[in-house]
Amino acid sequence: MAEIGNDLVKCRKLLAAGQLVAIPTETVYGLAGNALDPTAVAAIFATKNRPTFDPLIVHVAHLEAIAPLVREQPEPLMRLAARFWPGPLTLLLPAADCIPGLVTSGLPRVAVRVPNHPLTLKLLASLEFPLAAPSANPFGYISPTSPAHVEAQLGKRIPYILDGGQCKVGIESTIVGMEDDQVVVYRLGGLPIDDIQQITGPVEVQAHSNSNPRAPGQLDSHYAPRTPFVLGNLEELVPDYLARGESIAVLSLDREFAAIEPAAKRQLSPTRNLAEAATNLFADMRYLDTCGARVILAELLPEEGLGRAINDRLRRAAHS
Ligand code: TXA
Ligand code: MG
Repeated sequence: MAEIGNDLVKCRKLLAAGQLVAIPTETVYGLAGNALDPTAVAAIFATKNRPTFDPLIVHVAHLEAIAPLVREQPEPLMRLAARFWPGPLTLLLPAADCIPGLVTSGLPRVAVRVPNHPLTLKLLASLEFPLAAPSANPFGYISPTSPAHVEAQLGKRIPYILDGGQCKVGIESTIVGMEDDQVVVYRLGGLPIDDIQQITGPVEVQAHSNSNPRAPGQLDSHYAPRTPFVLGNLEELVPDYLARGESIAVLSLDREFAAIEPAAKRQLSPTRNLAEAATNLFADMRYLDTCGARVILAELLPEEGLGRAINDRLRRAAHS
């Protein structure tokens, strides 16, 4: 079992000694290590069984702290950083030589972000190095949004979980970079596209390219529960499965389904608030994955605002 607490001094010591610590962010919990220490970075990949072709995001305390880590700071992306950091935005920028090749999987760019969580910002400000941190889940599983989620799966493999409570945004950061003069979104996430376009003008969304996963968060079968996950029209699916006598669990935005016991259903947001739905998404998926049903039935949300990023997670959960 990992120790769970809010001892920043202890976290700093562990991290300075090359060990890993789970850290809270506003999006999901991260599995953090010294981004400039190849041994610590290798331990991150080993701990979550992550293939080394899937690069890591580097976390810093504030915008100015990216200067030694990158070779260029393109103006449109810096406007995004100035507006949305700390926040659920990751930028892909040309990597400086100090970034270990393992962090970027040998790619030319490094992913950087300033997370919006007071404890983690304090920790980052106290360190002499940035933190590489992927989501703190075994590769391919649902990302953790509470210390209990991290403990359940990685507790035996790490010494400490910094307890920052439940993650407020609840889905991973939006990943943005540039190709020539075009701003490109590589992963839909906690910062809606519309907010980005208000700063940069029209963006290109490449979040669905599976042939060439420039961001393996793009891999089809990601965020997957162990229980078969079926997406469709719940008004049809639920009666169908019930008629066949199947043991089902149901994930919806706001539907009641009186015929289904409370322990086998979750509403992401009874008031149809998409931010609340994002906050609840991964905890509800995890809960239903362990409630004993043979299949989880779910439906897509409105394809607008955060609904796009939530639907992206639902589609990937249904893929495998
Ligand atoms: O909200 C988040 O982004 C969370 C918290 C902990 O910060 N982190 C997170 O990390 O979701 P992870 O490792 O689960 O997803 C990072 C994504 C991966 O799909 C990875 O491929 C992409 O970012 N990425 C990282 N570095 C990259 C690079 N150099 N080039 C292209 N894609 C990169
Ligand atoms: Mg992840």
